[in-house]
Amino acid sequence: MAASALLHQDVLELRREFPAFSKPVHGTPLVYLDSASTSQKPRAVIDTLTRATESSANIHRGVHVLSVEATAAYEGVRTKAAALLGAARPQEIVFVRGTTEAINLVAQTYGRKNVGLGDEIVVTELEHHSNIVPWQMLCHERGAHLRVLPIDARGEVALDRLDELLGARTRIVAIAHVSNSLGTVLPVAEIARRARAAGAVTVVDGAQAVAHLPVDVGALGCDFYAFSGHKLYGPTGSGVLWGRGALLEAMPPWQGGGDMIRSVTFAETTYADVPHRFEAGTPDIAAVIGLGAAIDWIRAIGIDRIAAREAEMLAYVTRVVLGVADVRLVGTARDKRAIVSFNVGDLHPHDVGSALDLDGIAVRTGHHCTQPVMDHFGIDATVRASLGIYTTEEELDALGAGLVRARALLGSR
Ligand code: ALA
Repeated sequence: MAASALLHQDVLELRREFPAFSKPVHGTPLVYLDSASTSQKPRAVIDTLTRATESSANIHRGVHVLSVEATAAYEGVRTKAAALLGAARPQEIVFVRGTTEAINLVAQTYGRKNVGLGDEIVVTELEHHSNIVPWQMLCHERGAHLRVLPIDARGEVALDRLDELLGARTRIVAIAHVSNSLGTVLPVAEIARRARAAGAVTVVDGAQAVAHLPVDVGALGCDFYAFSGHKLYGPTGSGVLWGRGALLEAMPPWQGGGDMIRSVTFAETTYADVPHRFEAGTPDIAAVIGLGAAIDWIRAIGIDRIAAREAEMLAYVTRVVLGVADVRLVGTARDKRAIVSFNVGDLHPHDVGSALDLDGIAVRTGHHCTQPVMDHFGIDATVRASLGIYTTEEELDALGAGLVRARALLGSR
């Protein structure tokens, strides 16, 4: 049975949990349409962060009570993250600073071990720079080749072109779950199935997905899945890399240091078991514990209900922006989440963003770290409005009115 969407009244109640909405911007209530950059944080997360900082202790290193409690709280988040992703075991969860670090970790451990001269890595044309550049760096180092699955005029990946890119030399297929600049949802399960048949592993950038749709890595059939805490109503500096246990076990360590070893002598060092092998040094302990609070908070509301509500809001905001003269949507995929990108006549997106800001409306403008997407559409930049659990119809109406004012102010032709 389909989950019932959060209702307007539910959203108004949830908004009261976010301190950001009680502070005016330029003297008007904040209209926050930049959750794809980073989400606002609810009181439950802020309070957990504060508590974890008020009594600080390092993890895995102390027999005193504060350290034991910090270790239990930190390790407990692995179980929460595993449940969020449908992972088989908490040991498959590696804590990282965010999605970018997760992808670099895979490139520099799994990638360095398994990608050699003449091998190939496949990405799509809509990837965030963080799912392009680490693979380019690996290709340069190993003498491998990056191959690109194109997108079409809607901003959907050209699945019919995938098989010609996959071959005996393909080692890794790296794809977004949801595009950060277009909102396109990628057919991850189908791509992962074909990648596996070709003998390649699939790495998924889930940064724009986890807060917006249910994720089950088993059903997706991918091999690695990464997300950032700060887009999931959690703290910056927290993030997760999930990897299949057998793959993680076979991977060499990444950074060396404390907490990732079993024993060290000048003659030889042996490494800790997975996942600690990949977590050298003192991590952002409070941020990880705060991420646990964010996961609890999201799961208590229900990701299905959030997804259903955001689908309504995406349809609403699409109608609103298309109701403004001269608006051109960039990205019209049939399956989209939480993001609408557009341009207004010949106005520069930065000017539109600055005009909206005067009305207390926060959007992102620019290339969104996806310059190949901009090249595909023959533009330099877009205005991007991105939604969150707290987005209301009133805010989207304010965006529409703000765009009309911006056009008048800036003189769109
Ligand atoms: N990756 C983030 C965005 O899309 C920062 O805005």
